[in-house]
Amino acid sequence: MKRKIVQFCILSAFAVGNLCYAAESDTRLEARVDSVLRLMTLTEKIGQMNQLSNKEELTGQQLEDFDTEALVRAGKVGSLLNVAGAEETRRYQEIAVKDTRLHIPLVFGLDVIHGFRTISPVPLAESCSWNMELIELSARIAAIEASAAGLQWTFAPMVDIAHDPRWGRVMEGAGEDPYLGAAIAVARVKGFQGEDLSAENTIAACAKHFAGYGAVEGGREYNTVDISAQRLRELYLPPFAAAAEAGVATFMNAFNELMGVPATGSTFLVRDILKGEWNYDGMVVSDWGSVAEIAVHGVARDKSEAARLAVTAGCDMDMEGYCYVSELEDLVRRGVVSESLIDDAVRRILRLKFRLGLFDDPYRYCNAEREKRETLSAENREAVRAVARESIVLLENREGVLPLDSRYKTIGLIGPLADNPDDMLGSWCAWGQGRDVVDIRQGLEQAVGKSAVIRYAKGCEIEGDDRSGFDEAVRLARTCDVAILCLGENRFMSGEGASRTRLTLPGVQRELLQKIKETGTPVVLLLSNGRPLVLDWEKQNIATIVECWQLGVEAGHAIADVLLGRYNPSGKLTMSFPYNEGQIPVYYNCKSTGRPYVPGERYVTHYQDCPNEPLYAFGYGLSYTRFEYGDIELDKDTLSEGDTLRVVIPVTNVGDYDGQEVVQLYIRDVCSRITRPEKELKGFRKIALKKGETQSVVFHLSLADLEYVLADGRRVWDPGMFELFVGGSSTDVKRAEFMLK
Ligand code: NOJ
Repeated sequence: MKRKIVQFCILSAFAVGNLCYAAESDTRLEARVDSVLRLMTLTEKIGQMNQLSNKEELTGQQLEDFDTEALVRAGKVGSLLNVAGAEETRRYQEIAVKDTRLHIPLVFGLDVIHGFRTISPVPLAESCSWNMELIELSARIAAIEASAAGLQWTFAPMVDIAHDPRWGRVMEGAGEDPYLGAAIAVARVKGFQGEDLSAENTIAACAKHFAGYGAVEGGREYNTVDISAQRLRELYLPPFAAAAEAGVATFMNAFNELMGVPATGSTFLVRDILKGEWNYDGMVVSDWGSVAEIAVHGVARDKSEAARLAVTAGCDMDMEGYCYVSELEDLVRRGVVSESLIDDAVRRILRLKFRLGLFDDPYRYCNAEREKRETLSAENREAVRAVARESIVLLENREGVLPLDSRYKTIGLIGPLADNPDDMLGSWCAWGQGRDVVDIRQGLEQAVGKSAVIRYAKGCEIEGDDRSGFDEAVRLARTCDVAILCLGENRFMSGEGASRTRLTLPGVQRELLQKIKETGTPVVLLLSNGRPLVLDWEKQNIATIVECWQLGVEAGHAIADVLLGRYNPSGKLTMSFPYNEGQIPVYYNCKSTGRPYVPGERYVTHYQDCPNEPLYAFGYGLSYTRFEYGDIELDKDTLSEGDTLRVVIPVTNVGDYDGQEVVQLYIRDVCSRITRPEKELKGFRKIALKKGETQSVVFHLSLADLEYVLADGRRVWDPGMFELFVGGSSTDVKRAEFMLK
């Protein structure tokens, strides 16, 4: 009888809307999930655990060829990825809803990493804004457009902390710091998911890649990861924990192994930490083919064993692996895998579909009219322009060339990234298109109008050794008051499968830069790239350097805003820039060692040919104005359990422009039971100061900020002295100290 009622509810809900599956309490939700689960055969359950990709839009290597429509119709698919568009998703949804026995809707996912069509800056760039509202807004816009295109799920945010710029995927993360990474993870989850996952304009987020992917050896993509449990907990897990805490709807496994166990088959990571310690009730999807890859790692004999290991570990859905759908049924029938494991996974998948409102109305996201209206709207573009200009980091302005003013009547625009819309998009640009982009040349021409003349020469390609364009570029530079060099990487040089061992400007770009510099015309170097580069020569030789990253569809407008001083740059690096590749990994939150560096001494930690510090450090970034920090005031010199320490620091804008500053607070636990970093970020505020204005910036530190995590997951603190630093970068700080009792 009960069965019948549930079945009726499912059918009628599709017909009449919100009758059965309105937003509901957890208990009601669970009851409904169970009521559907009870109707399902083992085959149908395993079908829900299968996710397939559109064959025309592959974002990985396809392992098996199959007839997607036939499999959906047979109830053997729970989710599709890389299918988008209101009409196209509706077509597949109709098959799932009308032609399958239980009418369970599909969930559609896509890598909406930094925008769907209105592409915003790559995530590493956005992180440099240190502006949580803007980062949230950027994800919000992505969700609005993606959901209008029939999607309910993005495989973002990538919250992998990374210390190695050779790894191409650093463009997709938030840099090297776990505290900032956690804050950004929360902002992005909030942006994608909004207040209500079932709203038609929100989508499920996915914290990925769980875990340790950012620590691949040598920065080589998919490589071995072997880090201590201590380091894992302290450095790599905090953004994941924060995302889980913020209610992220899904997690994705990582491709890498971790301490000898492929992450997708790691019970320690998924079953024990995520679903155990963190009590996570959301769904875990494998990465592309990573269930089957457990066998390739050499930890399972075949696909069947790989499927057993993955499902036991807690991987609920097999992305484009075809492993669960082909192996699990047999494993359950033979008693190798308990059906309760399958039920746990399917429950999580159904929960997601209920939370998204798909059982209310499976077509709610397939609205062609909304798709037309909301995609690439002027409002969306305006918002990502704001994000883009705050993402720009001014690295050098030694001769005060910027902002450009009426001194510069003739502007030479030179380089392979000047007149180049496509590469402004960056990697993972979903449905973004070059024709939507305002590139640097267009942006600058529009902004300058008739007040200056812009002359353009490409000079060289991004890669290769063709120098035939040098002469024209040099001639052009000689006739100009300033030469703006647009150099960097193309969008395929970072992202997945894009590790590199040489991080200097590719091809002959540095040579071109040198030639232009030799003309004597002032040079402004604009960098568009998806990772920290090696810029030692540039720093020594070029007085004006702007890190523009890959800023998306509004790149040209945002860059022009900064160049012309219509926006005063405020970005701060979230990942250190090395002097050279041999110095990698180099990051601010390192340990002191037992032999800290002392200049001139041999038997201390150092290189003979390179400083220990990076070329540009975490938290660094200039403004057209200058900020002066006063002394730190603490309201007490000793902190006891339950107390809060009030930290106040006056910051004054002593320069000639209004501006924004990212005030950063770091601590150092001087003596503790295990070694602690020399500095750890524990707070930041982005403030706006008019010229001449002073603001007292206030932070509150509690015991929780002074705690750290041990290898076994326990949070502890140690009494004793703490140093506290506040400043405008990790290296330029005021210092104070206090005791913890
Ligand atoms: C593999 C990538 O590692 C992952 O981040 C992405 O979401 C999937 N492919 C789907 O495209």
